[in-house]
Amino acid sequence: MGDPVKAWHEEHMYFNRLLRLLQHEVEVFATAEVPNYALMLDIISYLRDYADQYHHPREDEVFRRLALHRPDQRAPVARLQQEHRVIANAGTTLMRLLEEVQSDAVVSRAQIEVAAATYLVYYGNHIANEEEHILQLAGQTLSAEDWQAAKDAAPAGNDPLLGAHPEERFRELRRRIAVEA
Ligand SMILES: [Fe+2]
Ligand SMILES: [Fe+2]
Repeated sequence: MGDPVKAWHEEHMYFNRLLRLLQHEVEVFATAEVPNYALMLDIISYLRDYADQYHHPREDEVFRRLALHRPDQRAPVARLQQEHRVIANAGTTLMRLLEEVQSDAVVSRAQIEVAAATYLVYYGNHIANEEEHILQLAGQTLSAEDWQAAKDAAPAGNDPLLGAHPEERFRELRRRIAVEA
């Protein structure tokens, strides 16, 4: 396998780019303009489809193994695992609100603004925490067998945005990422 810490870091940088795009749409609320709800929905559904299904389960296994090697890390990794659940929850809330907007239901802008801002802050801090405290330590601590187990914790599926067979529904989001890059 390639360098697992490098691949892990690259996914984080990629998620950060998506979060920046989402942040940009949240800032639109402040100007009283109408944000691009469809793009927001694409971002959140991608993060739910990919990060929640693959990235987080693999991390959970990395964290579990890291805590076995390093009992002093039990508390911080337990907190990160808890944050995965909170992120999934906050993502569900935000996605529901955005879906309601798409179906012309009356949803207050404030509700969406708050849900999106909460998600952004939570997610951004979570990634920063992992980058700052865990990646390097895991790289120094875990064995090849540990990394393989982490990979096996969520067998590779197709990445619907960046994989070999991207899904049509993410076409606009791919274009925006390319423009932003
Ligand atoms: Fe995480
Ligand atoms: Fe992560």
